[in-house]
Amino acid sequence: MAEIAVLGYGTVGSGVVEALWANQYNIDRKASQPIRVKYVFDVREFGAPIDKLLTHNIDDIIYDNDVRVVVEAMGGVEPAYAYVKEMLSRGKSVCTSNKELVAKHGAELLTLARDMNINFLFEASVGGGIPIIRPLNSSLAADEITEISGILNGTTNYILTKMTKENGDFNECLQAARQMGYAERDPSADIEGFDSCRKLAILVSLAIGKQVDFENIGTEGISRLTQRDVAYANELGGTLKLLATAKIDGPGVYARVSPVILRGGHPLAFVNDVYNAIYIKGKIIGEVMFYGRGAGKFPTASAVIADVVDAVKNLNRNIMHFWSTEKHEILPYGALKTDRLVRIGTNDAGKICQTLNTVDNVTFIKLFGDEIAAVIPDAANDAYERIVHSLAATGGDGRVISRTAIEGE
Ligand code: NDP
Ligand code: HSE
Repeated sequence: MAEIAVLGYGTVGSGVVEALWANQYNIDRKASQPIRVKYVFDVREFGAPIDKLLTHNIDDIIYDNDVRVVVEAMGGVEPAYAYVKEMLSRGKSVCTSNKELVAKHGAELLTLARDMNINFLFEASVGGGIPIIRPLNSSLAADEITEISGILNGTTNYILTKMTKENGDFNECLQAARQMGYAERDPSADIEGFDSCRKLAILVSLAIGKQVDFENIGTEGISRLTQRDVAYANELGGTLKLLATAKIDGPGVYARVSPVILRGGHPLAFVNDVYNAIYIKGKIIGEVMFYGRGAGKFPTASAVIADVVDAVKNLNRNIMHFWSTEKHEILPYGALKTDRLVRIGTNDAGKICQTLNTVDNVTFIKLFGDEIAAVIPDAANDAYERIVHSLAATGGDGRVISRTAIEGE
């Protein structure tokens, strides 16, 4: 029998325990032995049946040699990092859904697990219930990956879908996503794009085998988008999505997270609600897509339990590829040319239109109240920012309301 502990009994942790109990027969069969939860660790109190497993003292788990696998679902970097390191150093495999922890310390924790001949597994850290870490670790391991593009955040995709299809109000949609357990404890991680950015850093680090610091990935979220952006996306024949993209060209890795208008039947344009999708291009395999629920109690629990089964089956064998702690520089994605939409607040529409007339190829000029929207085609970030700056300086009122890239024909 394998005895496990679950750290954090919130959305994910409770999903893991409930799903383990509900599907005990099948899970035990797949693990070739019974898996039983011995401890639940949390700051909070819970009634029956969790009260019998509950501890508030992490040492109960650290010093229990019968516990060989630990699920970490508390979230945040500390104290999760200290606890996970301690568990691994004591020969306990760890399965986590905590992308903040993996993006920041994944390389070090993978190395520690490898040195201890155990496992640090994190399938649920990217894409919720979508299997993506395993394919990168095994099926795609032989390939040279050249692109990773994805909708990597369930909360923002849920909000954008509701805004697009139901005219939803941003804050009400965010509130609904929080109630459904999709959002982070601090939802600015979702809406400002940091959660997608950390997930992209994990995927790229695994793909290239080196540490990509998420802090170096240019990141813009969706908090500035309004129904106007939805309307412009519609008029431009596209759909608004928060896209995390990395292009890998030998040693050159370009990455960004940004709102994008996807046009012309782009496959990611059809990914709605809490669903996520990850598109990967490799030199050998060509294109592959992974699709599924990107957040929520049971989809995420299913990914964590898959890790628990692997950890139990490989108690004394390291199965993960690791990425080294050697840092790999990220190049600004803005160096690549693309069409871009900008909304600028104006107090002198005539003047701003005159300035726009001096800019080559500007299209889709819309005046609406005290703002103007324009598409600046085929621009790299520097050129685009120069144009935005000159527009804002001559007829603008100092507000750049939103910036959105446009992809597809
Ligand atoms: P929750 O906030 O729902 O659950 C976390 C639980 O851990 C809470 O009960 C919390 O108690 C407890 N906890 C936090 N810190 C400590 C501590 N220091 N000591 C003891 N208990 C602690 O979070 P989620 O379940 O939503 O998320 C957990 C992790 O999984 C996060 O890293 C998240 O990003 C990730 N994740 C979440 C998904 C989702 O859909 N929700 C999907 C994929 C990954 P208290 O509330 O009192 O602080
Ligand atoms: N807050 C995250 C999301 C949870 O909405 O995608 C899953 O990682």
